[in-house]
Amino acid sequence: MSEKAQIGVTGLAVMGRNLARNFARHGHTVAVHNRSYNRTKELVEEFGNEGTFIPSESAEDFVASLERPRRVVIMVKAGAPTDAVIDEFAPLLEEGDMLIDAGNAHYLDTRRREAALRERGLHFVGTGVSGGEEGALHGPSIMPGGSPESYEALGPLLEDISAKVDGEPCCVHVGPDGAGHFVKMVHNGIEYADMQLIAEAYDLLRQVGGHTPSEIADVFRGWNEGRLGSYLIEITAEVLKQNDAESGQPFVDIVLDQAEQKGTGRWTVQAALDLGVPVSGIAESVFARALSGGADVRKAAADAGLPGPSATAGAHEGDLQADVEQALFASKIVAYAQGFQQIQAASKEYGWSIDPGAMAKIWRAGCIIRAKFLDFIKQAYDKSPELTTLLVDQYFLDAVSGAQDAWRRVVVTAAQHGIPAPGFASALAYFDGLRAARLPAALIQGQRDFFGAHTYRRVDKEGAFHTLWATDDRKEIDA
Ligand code: 6PG
Repeated sequence: MSEKAQIGVTGLAVMGRNLARNFARHGHTVAVHNRSYNRTKELVEEFGNEGTFIPSESAEDFVASLERPRRVVIMVKAGAPTDAVIDEFAPLLEEGDMLIDAGNAHYLDTRRREAALRERGLHFVGTGVSGGEEGALHGPSIMPGGSPESYEALGPLLEDISAKVDGEPCCVHVGPDGAGHFVKMVHNGIEYADMQLIAEAYDLLRQVGGHTPSEIADVFRGWNEGRLGSYLIEITAEVLKQNDAESGQPFVDIVLDQAEQKGTGRWTVQAALDLGVPVSGIAESVFARALSGGADVRKAAADAGLPGPSATAGAHEGDLQADVEQALFASKIVAYAQGFQQIQAASKEYGWSIDPGAMAKIWRAGCIIRAKFLDFIKQAYDKSPELTTLLVDQYFLDAVSGAQDAWRRVVVTAAQHGIPAPGFASALAYFDGLRAARLPAALIQGQRDFFGAHTYRRVDKEGAFHTLWATDDRKEIDA
Protein backbone atom coordinates (compact mmCIF):
# COMPACT_ATOMS: atom_id res chain seq x y z
CA MET A 1 0.00 0.00 0.00
CA SER A 2 1.42 3.39 -1.01
CA GLU A 3 2.37 6.02 1.55
CA LYS A 4 -0.43 8.17 2.94
CA ALA A 5 -0.19 11.83 3.86
CA GLN A 6 -0.64 13.03 7.43
CA ILE A 7 -2.11 16.30 6.28
CA GLY A 8 -3.42 17.83 3.08
CA VAL A 9 -3.52 21.41 1.86
CA THR A 10 -5.95 22.58 -0.80
CA GLY A 11 -5.54 26.08 -2.18
CA LEU A 12 -1.93 26.64 -3.10
CA ALA A 13 -1.62 30.40 -3.46
CA VAL A 14 1.31 31.76 -1.48
CA MET A 15 -0.14 31.17 2.02
CA GLY A 16 -1.29 27.64 1.27
CA ARG A 17 1.92 26.79 -0.52
CA ASN A 18 4.04 28.04 2.37
CA LEU A 19 1.97 26.18 4.96
CA ALA A 20 2.33 22.98 2.90
CA ARG A 21 6.10 23.50 2.68
CA ASN A 22 6.28 24.17 6.41
CA PHE A 23 4.53 20.84 7.16
CA ALA A 24 6.83 19.05 4.72
CA ARG A 25 9.95 20.67 6.18
CA HIS A 26 8.87 19.29 9.55
CA GLY A 27 8.91 15.77 8.17
CA HIS A 28 5.19 15.33 7.53
CA THR A 29 3.99 13.84 4.29
CA VAL A 30 1.74 16.47 2.71
CA ALA A 31 -1.02 15.91 0.18
CA VAL A 32 -1.38 18.96 -2.08
CA HIS A 33 -4.22 20.07 -4.30
CA ASN A 34 -5.29 23.18 -6.12
CA ARG A 35 -8.20 24.08 -8.39
CA SER A 36 -5.83 24.43 -11.31
CA TYR A 37 -3.26 21.62 -11.33
CA ASN A 38 -0.46 23.91 -12.55
CA ARG A 39 0.11 25.38 -9.11
CA THR A 40 0.30 21.91 -7.58
CA LYS A 41 2.83 20.84 -10.18
CA GLU A 42 4.90 23.99 -9.68
CA LEU A 43 5.01 23.49 -5.93
CA VAL A 44 6.31 19.96 -6.26
CA GLU A 45 8.78 20.91 -8.99
CA GLU A 46 10.17 23.88 -7.10
CA PHE A 47 10.09 22.64 -3.54
CA GLY A 48 9.78 18.87 -3.81
CA ASN A 49 13.24 18.50 -2.30
CA GLU A 50 12.07 20.06 0.98
CA GLY A 51 10.05 17.00 2.02
CA THR A 52 7.45 14.52 0.83
CA PHE A 53 4.50 15.86 -1.16
CA ILE A 54 1.72 13.81 -2.72
CA PRO A 55 0.24 15.90 -5.53
CA SER A 56 -3.28 15.18 -6.78
CA GLU A 57 -5.18 16.57 -9.69
CA SER A 58 -8.65 15.63 -8.48
CA ALA A 59 -10.34 16.19 -5.13
CA GLU A 60 -11.07 12.43 -5.00
CA ASP A 61 -7.42 11.44 -5.38
CA PHE A 62 -6.37 14.09 -2.88
CA VAL A 63 -8.79 12.76 -0.26
CA ALA A 64 -7.76 9.17 -0.99
CA SER A 65 -4.11 10.07 -0.39
CA LEU A 66 -4.74 11.07 3.22
CA GLU A 67 -4.50 8.84 6.30
CA ARG A 68 -7.55 8.63 8.59
CA PRO A 69 -8.81 10.68 10.27
CA ARG A 70 -8.19 12.96 7.32
CA ARG A 71 -6.91 16.44 7.97
CA VAL A 72 -7.63 18.82 5.10
CA VAL A 73 -6.38 22.40 5.38
CA ILE A 74 -8.35 24.82 3.22
CA MET A 75 -6.44 27.95 2.28
CA VAL A 76 -8.70 29.90 -0.05
CA LYS A 77 -10.34 33.32 -0.02
CA ALA A 78 -12.79 33.88 2.84
CA GLY A 79 -16.49 33.90 1.95
CA ALA A 80 -18.07 32.10 -0.99
CA PRO A 81 -14.84 30.37 -2.17
CA THR A 82 -14.56 28.69 1.25
CA ASP A 83 -18.15 27.44 1.06
CA ALA A 84 -17.50 26.14 -2.46
CA VAL A 85 -14.47 24.15 -1.30
CA ILE A 86 -16.39 22.77 1.69
CA ASP A 87 -19.21 21.70 -0.63
CA GLU A 88 -16.68 19.97 -2.84
CA PHE A 89 -14.84 18.09 -0.11
CA ALA A 90 -17.42 17.32 2.58
CA PRO A 91 -19.16 14.60 0.51
CA LEU A 92 -15.81 12.87 -0.01
CA LEU A 93 -14.95 12.74 3.70
CA GLU A 94 -15.92 10.20 6.35
CA GLU A 95 -16.96 10.46 9.96
CA GLY A 96 -14.25 11.96 12.18
CA ASP A 97 -12.38 13.63 9.32
CA MET A 98 -11.42 17.29 9.65
CA LEU A 99 -11.74 20.32 7.42
CA ILE A 100 -9.46 23.10 8.63
CA ASP A 101 -10.19 26.60 7.41
CA ALA A 102 -6.95 28.53 7.82
CA GLY A 103 -8.15 31.70 6.07
CA ASN A 104 -9.39 34.91 7.67
CA ALA A 105 -13.04 33.81 7.87
CA HIS A 106 -15.71 35.66 9.79
CA TYR A 107 -16.31 33.81 13.05
CA LEU A 108 -20.08 33.69 12.46
CA ASP A 109 -19.48 31.91 9.15
CA THR A 110 -17.23 29.51 11.03
CA ARG A 111 -19.94 28.85 13.62
CA ARG A 112 -22.44 28.15 10.86
CA ARG A 113 -20.08 25.84 8.97
CA GLU A 114 -19.00 24.01 12.11
CA ALA A 115 -22.60 23.32 13.13
CA ALA A 116 -23.56 22.10 9.64
CA LEU A 117 -20.56 19.79 9.32
CA ARG A 118 -20.95 18.48 12.86
CA GLU A 119 -24.40 17.24 11.80
CA ARG A 120 -22.63 15.22 9.13
CA GLY A 121 -20.10 13.78 11.59
CA LEU A 122 -17.25 15.96 10.32
CA HIS A 123 -15.02 18.33 12.30
CA PHE A 124 -14.71 21.85 11.04
CA VAL A 125 -11.77 23.69 12.53
CA GLY A 126 -11.76 27.45 11.93
CA THR A 127 -8.14 28.37 12.48
CA GLY A 128 -6.53 31.77 12.73
CA VAL A 129 -3.06 31.91 11.18
CA SER A 130 -0.98 35.03 11.57
CA GLY A 131 2.42 36.02 10.28
CA GLY A 132 1.90 36.57 6.59
CA GLU A 133 3.80 34.62 3.94
CA GLU A 134 7.01 34.41 5.93
CA GLY A 135 5.21 33.25 9.04
CA ALA A 136 3.36 30.54 7.13
CA LEU A 137 6.69 29.17 5.96
CA HIS A 138 8.91 29.66 9.00
CA GLY A 139 6.43 29.46 11.86
CA PRO A 140 3.16 31.35 12.26
CA SER A 141 1.09 31.97 15.35
CA ILE A 142 -1.84 29.56 15.06
CA MET A 143 -5.26 29.96 16.68
CA PRO A 144 -7.41 26.87 16.09
CA GLY A 145 -11.04 26.66 17.14
CA GLY A 146 -13.28 23.61 16.72
CA SER A 147 -13.89 20.62 18.95
CA PRO A 148 -11.40 19.40 21.58
CA GLU A 149 -11.36 15.98 19.78
CA SER A 150 -10.25 17.62 16.56
CA TYR A 151 -7.46 19.40 18.43
CA GLU A 152 -6.24 16.08 19.78
CA ALA A 153 -5.70 14.80 16.26
CA LEU A 154 -4.61 18.05 14.68
CA GLY A 155 -2.96 20.07 17.45
CA PRO A 156 0.41 18.27 17.46
CA LEU A 157 0.90 18.94 13.74
CA LEU A 158 -0.05 22.60 14.06
CA GLU A 159 2.15 23.01 17.14
CA ASP A 160 4.99 21.46 15.19
CA ILE A 161 4.92 24.07 12.42
CA SER A 162 4.12 27.07 14.63
CA ALA A 163 6.55 29.70 15.90
CA LYS A 164 8.22 28.88 19.22
CA VAL A 165 9.17 30.95 22.25
CA ASP A 166 11.73 29.17 24.43
CA GLY A 167 10.67 25.94 22.75
CA GLU A 168 6.98 26.51 23.50
CA PRO A 169 4.64 26.50 20.49
CA CYS A 170 2.66 29.58 19.53
CA CYS A 171 -0.43 27.44 19.02
CA VAL A 172 -3.13 26.45 21.44
CA HIS A 173 -6.71 25.21 21.23
CA VAL A 174 -8.55 28.52 21.57
CA GLY A 175 -12.03 27.13 22.14
CA PRO A 176 -14.91 25.52 20.27
CA ASP A 177 -16.49 26.47 16.92
CA GLY A 178 -15.69 30.09 15.96
CA ALA A 179 -13.37 30.89 18.89
CA GLY A 180 -10.17 30.63 16.84
CA HIS A 181 -11.38 32.91 14.09
CA PHE A 182 -12.80 35.35 16.62
CA VAL A 183 -9.45 35.63 18.36
CA LYS A 184 -7.66 36.04 15.01
CA MET A 185 -10.12 38.79 14.11
CA VAL A 186 -9.37 40.66 17.35
CA HIS A 187 -5.65 40.10 16.73
CA ASN A 188 -6.13 41.95 13.46
CA GLY A 189 -8.15 44.70 15.15
CA ILE A 190 -5.30 45.20 17.60
CA GLU A 191 -2.90 45.16 14.64
CA TYR A 192 -4.86 48.06 13.10
CA ALA A 193 -4.69 50.01 16.38
CA ASP A 194 -0.97 49.35 16.79
CA MET A 195 -0.31 50.55 13.25
CA GLN A 196 -2.42 53.69 13.65
CA LEU A 197 -0.68 54.64 16.91
CA ILE A 198 2.73 54.15 15.34
CA ALA A 199 1.64 56.30 12.40
CA GLU A 200 0.50 59.06 14.76
CA ALA A 201 3.85 58.94 16.58
CA TYR A 202 5.66 59.29 13.27
CA ASP A 203 3.43 62.18 12.18
CA LEU A 204 4.08 64.15 15.36
CA LEU A 205 7.84 63.58 15.25
CA ARG A 206 7.85 64.71 11.66
CA GLN A 207 5.45 67.65 11.79
CA VAL A 208 6.11 69.00 15.28
CA GLY A 209 9.63 67.69 15.79
CA GLY A 210 10.72 68.53 12.26
CA HIS A 211 12.63 65.26 11.83
CA THR A 212 13.23 63.49 8.54
CA PRO A 213 11.84 59.98 7.93
CA SER A 214 15.36 58.59 8.21
CA GLU A 215 15.90 60.29 11.59
CA ILE A 216 12.55 58.99 12.77
CA ALA A 217 13.59 55.51 11.64
CA ASP A 218 16.49 55.79 14.09
CA VAL A 219 14.11 56.83 16.85
CA PHE A 220 11.98 53.73 16.16
CA ARG A 221 15.11 51.56 16.14
CA GLY A 222 15.93 52.90 19.57
CA TRP A 223 12.39 52.30 20.81
CA ASN A 224 12.54 48.78 19.49
CA GLU A 225 15.26 48.03 22.02
CA GLY A 226 12.99 49.09 24.89
CA ARG A 227 9.53 48.24 26.18
CA LEU A 228 7.95 49.02 22.79
CA GLY A 229 10.05 46.30 21.17
CA SER A 230 7.85 44.60 18.57
CA TYR A 231 7.68 43.45 14.98
CA LEU A 232 5.59 46.45 13.91
CA ILE A 233 8.04 48.96 15.44
CA GLU A 234 10.90 47.11 13.78
CA ILE A 235 9.36 47.15 10.30
CA THR A 236 8.30 50.79 10.74
CA ALA A 237 11.98 51.70 11.04
CA GLU A 238 12.69 49.74 7.86
CA VAL A 239 9.90 51.45 5.93
CA LEU A 240 10.99 54.90 7.12
CA LYS A 241 14.62 54.27 6.14
CA GLN A 242 13.63 53.27 2.64
CA ASN A 243 14.21 55.66 -0.25
CA ASP A 244 12.33 55.37 -3.51
CA ALA A 245 14.70 54.04 -6.15
CA GLU A 246 13.11 56.10 -8.92
CA SER A 247 12.89 59.53 -7.34
CA GLY A 248 15.36 59.29 -4.49
CA GLN A 249 12.59 60.61 -2.21
CA PRO A 250 11.80 58.98 1.12
CA PHE A 251 9.58 56.02 0.28
CA VAL A 252 6.92 57.25 2.70
CA ASP A 253 6.59 60.46 0.66
CA ILE A 254 5.90 58.81 -2.66
CA VAL A 255 3.09 56.54 -1.39
CA LEU A 256 -0.50 57.70 -1.71
CA ASP A 257 -1.78 58.47 1.80
CA GLN A 258 -4.90 56.32 1.56
CA ALA A 259 -4.79 53.21 3.73
CA GLU A 260 -6.56 50.11 2.49
CA GLN A 261 -8.24 47.36 4.46
CA LYS A 262 -9.52 43.91 3.72
CA GLY A 263 -12.06 44.01 6.53
CA THR A 264 -10.98 42.16 9.64
CA GLY A 265 -10.52 45.42 11.60
CA ARG A 266 -14.02 46.48 10.60
CA TRP A 267 -15.40 43.08 11.65
CA THR A 268 -13.75 43.51 15.05
CA VAL A 269 -15.53 46.80 15.59
CA GLN A 270 -18.86 45.45 14.32
CA ALA A 271 -18.62 42.52 16.73
CA ALA A 272 -17.60 44.83 19.58
CA LEU A 273 -20.66 46.99 18.96
CA ASP A 274 -22.89 43.93 19.29
CA LEU A 275 -21.10 42.80 22.43
CA GLY A 276 -21.21 46.32 23.89
CA VAL A 277 -17.45 46.46 24.43
CA PRO A 278 -15.86 49.87 23.82
CA VAL A 279 -12.91 49.07 21.55
CA SER A 280 -12.41 52.75 20.78
CA GLY A 281 -8.73 52.32 19.87
CA ILE A 282 -9.52 49.76 17.21
CA ALA A 283 -12.54 51.73 16.00
CA GLU A 284 -10.49 54.92 15.64
CA SER A 285 -7.91 53.07 13.59
CA VAL A 286 -10.55 51.62 11.26
CA PHE A 287 -12.16 55.05 10.87
CA ALA A 288 -8.78 56.73 10.35
CA ARG A 289 -8.18 54.36 7.42
CA ALA A 290 -11.65 55.13 6.10
CA LEU A 291 -11.03 58.89 6.43
CA SER A 292 -7.70 58.58 4.64
CA GLY A 293 -9.37 56.67 1.82
CA GLY A 294 -12.25 59.14 1.48
CA ALA A 295 -10.65 60.99 -1.41
CA ASP A 296 -13.78 62.92 -2.39
CA VAL A 297 -14.44 64.28 1.06
CA ARG A 298 -10.80 65.16 1.56
CA LYS A 299 -10.75 66.96 -1.76
CA ALA A 300 -13.92 68.88 -0.88
CA ALA A 301 -12.30 69.93 2.41
CA ALA A 302 -9.10 70.98 0.65
CA ASP A 303 -11.04 72.91 -1.99
CA ALA A 304 -13.03 74.71 0.70
CA GLY A 305 -9.80 75.46 2.55
CA LEU A 306 -10.92 74.10 5.95
CA PRO A 307 -8.80 76.25 8.25
CA GLY A 308 -6.28 75.03 10.81
CA PRO A 309 -5.54 76.58 14.23
CA SER A 310 -5.64 80.38 14.07
CA ALA A 311 -2.84 80.95 16.57
CA THR A 312 0.63 79.71 15.76
CA ALA A 313 1.11 76.68 17.94
CA GLY A 314 3.96 76.91 20.39
CA ALA A 315 6.72 74.37 20.84
CA HIS A 316 5.87 71.14 22.61
CA GLU A 317 6.19 71.61 26.35
CA GLY A 318 8.52 68.79 27.15
CA ASP A 319 10.83 66.36 25.42
CA LEU A 320 8.75 65.52 22.36
CA GLN A 321 10.45 62.26 21.57
CA ALA A 322 10.27 60.94 25.12
CA ASP A 323 6.67 62.13 25.49
CA VAL A 324 5.57 60.49 22.24
CA GLU A 325 7.13 57.23 23.38
CA GLN A 326 5.06 57.42 26.57
CA ALA A 327 1.87 58.31 24.66
CA LEU A 328 2.47 55.44 22.27
CA PHE A 329 3.04 52.92 25.02
CA ALA A 330 0.06 54.05 27.10
CA SER A 331 -2.29 54.11 24.09
CA LYS A 332 -1.05 50.68 23.03
CA ILE A 333 -1.86 49.33 26.48
CA VAL A 334 -5.38 50.74 26.18
CA ALA A 335 -5.88 49.13 22.74
CA TYR A 336 -4.77 45.72 24.03
CA ALA A 337 -6.86 46.07 27.18
CA GLN A 338 -9.89 46.75 25.00
CA GLY A 339 -9.14 43.87 22.63
CA PHE A 340 -8.70 41.41 25.46
CA GLN A 341 -11.91 42.63 27.05
CA GLN A 342 -13.66 41.91 23.77
CA ILE A 343 -12.26 38.38 23.69
CA GLN A 344 -13.45 37.80 27.25
CA ALA A 345 -16.90 39.18 26.45
CA ALA A 346 -17.29 36.93 23.40
CA SER A 347 -15.99 33.96 25.34
CA LYS A 348 -18.74 34.51 27.89
CA GLU A 349 -21.41 35.15 25.26
CA TYR A 350 -20.62 32.00 23.28
CA GLY A 351 -19.43 29.79 26.16
CA TRP A 352 -15.95 29.41 24.67
CA SER A 353 -13.92 29.41 27.93
CA ILE A 354 -11.01 31.19 26.26
CA ASP A 355 -7.93 31.59 28.42
CA PRO A 356 -6.80 35.18 27.66
CA GLY A 357 -3.30 34.53 29.05
CA ALA A 358 -2.88 31.70 26.54
CA MET A 359 -3.75 34.11 23.71
CA ALA A 360 -1.04 36.53 24.89
CA LYS A 361 1.32 33.57 25.03
CA ILE A 362 0.74 32.45 21.44
CA TRP A 363 1.02 36.02 20.13
CA ARG A 364 4.56 36.40 21.45
CA ALA A 365 6.08 35.11 18.20
CA GLY A 366 5.07 34.38 14.63
CA CYS A 367 2.25 36.90 14.36
CA ILE A 368 2.11 40.50 13.21
CA ILE A 369 1.51 41.97 16.67
CA ARG A 370 4.32 40.02 18.34
CA ALA A 371 5.80 42.22 21.01
CA LYS A 372 7.86 42.10 24.15
CA PHE A 373 5.07 43.36 26.31
CA LEU A 374 2.84 40.34 25.56
CA ASP A 375 4.89 38.62 28.26
CA PHE A 376 3.46 41.09 30.75
CA ILE A 377 -0.07 40.45 29.50
CA LYS A 378 0.46 36.74 29.93
CA GLN A 379 1.79 37.29 33.45
CA ALA A 380 -1.16 39.52 34.30
CA TYR A 381 -3.65 36.80 33.36
CA ASP A 382 -1.54 34.08 35.00
CA LYS A 383 -1.81 36.06 38.24
CA SER A 384 -5.54 36.79 37.87
CA PRO A 385 -7.31 34.77 35.17
CA GLU A 386 -10.51 36.72 35.78
CA LEU A 387 -8.86 40.14 35.42
CA THR A 388 -11.59 42.61 34.38
CA THR A 389 -9.21 44.88 32.51
CA LEU A 390 -5.47 44.84 31.93
CA LEU A 391 -5.34 48.43 33.11
CA VAL A 392 -5.72 47.36 36.74
CA ASP A 393 -2.82 44.91 36.62
CA GLN A 394 0.07 46.48 38.54
CA TYR A 395 2.54 46.54 35.64
CA PHE A 396 0.11 48.25 33.29
CA LEU A 397 -1.31 50.52 35.97
CA ASP A 398 2.21 51.75 36.75
CA ALA A 399 3.05 52.15 33.06
CA VAL A 400 -0.06 54.15 32.27
CA SER A 401 0.14 56.25 35.42
CA GLY A 402 3.79 57.00 34.71
CA ALA A 403 2.97 57.93 31.12
CA GLN A 404 -0.06 60.07 31.67
CA ASP A 405 1.49 63.54 32.02
CA ALA A 406 3.51 63.04 28.84
CA TRP A 407 0.48 61.48 27.14
CA ARG A 408 -1.63 64.53 27.94
CA ARG A 409 1.07 66.88 26.67
CA VAL A 410 1.19 64.96 23.38
CA VAL A 411 -2.57 65.15 22.90
CA VAL A 412 -2.49 68.89 23.67
CA THR A 413 0.35 69.45 21.21
CA ALA A 414 -1.44 67.49 18.50
CA ALA A 415 -4.62 69.52 19.00
CA GLN A 416 -2.77 72.84 19.08
CA HIS A 417 -0.92 72.04 15.88
CA GLY A 418 -4.03 70.71 14.17
CA ILE A 419 -2.49 67.28 13.70
CA PRO A 420 -4.98 64.43 13.90
CA ALA A 421 -4.09 61.95 16.64
CA PRO A 422 -7.36 60.07 17.13
CA GLY A 423 -5.62 56.99 18.53
CA PHE A 424 -3.73 58.85 21.26
CA ALA A 425 -6.67 61.13 22.09
CA SER A 426 -9.34 58.45 22.24
CA ALA A 427 -7.14 56.13 24.30
CA LEU A 428 -6.65 58.96 26.78
CA ALA A 429 -10.38 59.68 26.81
CA TYR A 430 -11.05 55.99 27.48
CA PHE A 431 -8.54 56.03 30.34
CA ASP A 432 -10.13 59.14 31.81
CA GLY A 433 -13.58 57.62 31.33
CA LEU A 434 -12.60 54.53 33.29
CA ARG A 435 -11.01 56.63 36.02
CA ALA A 436 -13.91 59.03 36.46
CA ALA A 437 -15.74 58.84 39.76
CA ARG A 438 -18.84 60.16 38.00
CA LEU A 439 -19.59 60.35 34.31
CA PRO A 440 -22.05 62.66 32.56
CA ALA A 441 -24.04 59.55 31.67
CA ALA A 442 -26.40 60.62 34.48
CA LEU A 443 -27.41 63.57 32.33
CA ILE A 444 -27.95 61.29 29.34
CA GLN A 445 -30.26 59.19 31.50
CA GLY A 446 -32.17 62.36 32.37
CA GLN A 447 -32.53 63.28 28.72
CA ARG A 448 -33.71 59.78 27.86
CA ASP A 449 -36.26 59.85 30.60
CA PHE A 450 -37.43 63.31 29.51
CA PHE A 451 -38.09 62.55 25.88
CA GLY A 452 -38.89 58.86 26.02
CA ALA A 453 -39.84 57.95 29.59
CA HIS A 454 -37.01 55.43 29.41
CA THR A 455 -36.59 55.55 33.21
CA TYR A 456 -33.41 55.78 35.23
CA ARG A 457 -31.88 54.22 38.31
CA ARG A 458 -30.98 56.26 41.38
CA VAL A 459 -27.81 56.37 43.42
CA ASP A 460 -29.67 56.11 46.72
CA LYS A 461 -32.31 53.42 46.25
CA GLU A 462 -33.13 50.37 44.15
CA GLY A 463 -35.65 50.37 41.29
CA ALA A 464 -36.42 52.07 37.99
CA PHE A 465 -37.78 55.61 38.15
CA HIS A 466 -39.51 58.01 35.85
CA THR A 467 -40.05 61.72 36.44
CA LEU A 468 -43.22 63.44 35.27
CA TRP A 469 -41.35 66.11 33.36
CA ALA A 470 -44.21 67.81 31.56
CA THR A 471 -46.27 68.84 34.59
CA ASP A 472 -45.63 71.57 37.09
CA ASP A 473 -45.88 69.30 40.05
CA ARG A 474 -42.92 67.22 38.82
CA LYS A 475 -42.35 64.27 41.01
CA GLU A 476 -40.66 60.97 40.73
CA ILE A 477 -42.75 57.87 40.24
CA ASP A 478 -41.58 54.36 40.65
CA ALA A 479 -41.77 52.84 37.18
C1 6PG B 1 -1.72 38.45 9.83
C2 6PG B 1 -2.38 39.62 9.16
C3 6PG B 1 -3.17 39.21 7.97
C4 6PG B 1 -4.11 40.25 7.44
C5 6PG B 1 -3.58 41.46 6.84
C6 6PG B 1 -4.42 42.63 7.24
O1 6PG B 1 -2.04 38.26 10.99
O2 6PG B 1 -0.89 37.78 9.22
O3 6PG B 1 -3.25 40.19 10.07
O4 6PG B 1 -3.95 38.13 8.36
O5 6PG B 1 -4.85 39.68 6.41
O6 6PG B 1 -2.25 41.69 7.05
O7 6PG B 1 -4.94 43.12 6.13
P1 6PG B 1 -5.71 44.51 5.95
O8 6PG B 1 -4.84 45.58 6.54
O9 6PG B 1 -5.81 44.60 4.47
O10 6PG B 1 -7.03 44.38 6.59
